[in-house]
Amino acid sequence: MSIGEYKKCIDRELKLYFEDKIKYSEEEKIIYEAMAYSTNIGGKRIRPILFMATHNIFSNSEVPMGIPCAIEMIHTYSLIHDDLPDMDNDDLRRGKPTNHKVFGNAMAILAGDGLLNEAFNIAFQYVVDHPHHAKALKYLCNSSGVDGMISGQVIDILNENKTVSLKELEKMHRLKTGALIKASIVSGAIIGGATEEEIVLLEQYGDALGLAFQVIDDILDVTGNEDKIGKKVGSDATNNKSTFVSVIGLEESKVYAEKLTLKCYDILENIDKNTDELYEITRYLLNREE
Ligand code: IPE
Ligand code: IPE
Ligand code: MG
Ligand code: MG
Ligand code: MG
Repeated sequence: MSIGEYKKCIDRELKLYFEDKIKYSEEEKIIYEAMAYSTNIGGKRIRPILFMATHNIFSNSEVPMGIPCAIEMIHTYSLIHDDLPDMDNDDLRRGKPTNHKVFGNAMAILAGDGLLNEAFNIAFQYVVDHPHHAKALKYLCNSSGVDGMISGQVIDILNENKTVSLKELEKMHRLKTGALIKASIVSGAIIGGATEEEIVLLEQYGDALGLAFQVIDDILDVTGNEDKIGKKVGSDATNNKSTFVSVIGLEESKVYAEKLTLKCYDILENIDKNTDELYEITRYLLNREE
């Protein structure tokens, strides 16, 4: 399937999911509306797409859509919280006002909490029905928690107004963004039925891809077009963030992203299956303007 076809799939599932929730809820309608707002106003859906494409390398069965939906909910919660005034204080996301600008800070915090919890509610339902895949959920949970994304965000906040080493910066990026990207790939591989050796290779691939993704995010924060990225350009400089661009410069950052992308291609070469879709996604991510 093409990237666009995968995206349509996940967009449709998430839309239906919240339509039902909103239809059948009463006083909690507002929280579902806040959760649905940030989830469905846009987004590249790259994490669920990576899950689906990786799953399909190893399995001919239909993708269990609950898991990619859960992954996108975890990601969306992290964006809502990342934009809050006490975090990055941003007012534009996915081309629309950020969640707290529309629903207020309190409701935005709760919408993030709601998405995180709902994500695991959905993922647990899958695991109740498929207990032999529990390892995938454990991996996802671990990667989005304090061993992964949360620690990355902690390091990001602590490093405002500081000069960090390249090593620390790489660690931060691997955690705050790389961990969930890697987990999307690895959970897709586990549920798809990859071997242990294949999973190890995909972990390496996810690691390089996740790091490259945040390096490019840092680049786009400087060179991007607001209409395309759907975020305010220059947010990192405003917040005195430590980014790849601030630490090694714009040109070096581009070279580094390309180097990581080549590493991804090399790893895919070593997987003895048809990895064309992952190859295509990797190329798209390097050249993205959104
Ligand atoms: C932005 O993620 C936040 C990071 C972790 C870098 P994306 O660039 O995937 O944002 P959406 O989902 O397309 O809006
Ligand atoms: C965010 O990194 C990483 C998350 C876990 C959300 P950024 O703060 O650079 O993401 P953007 O640029 O706001 O999307
Ligand atoms: Mg941030
Ligand atoms: Mg931010
Ligand atoms: Mg950024």
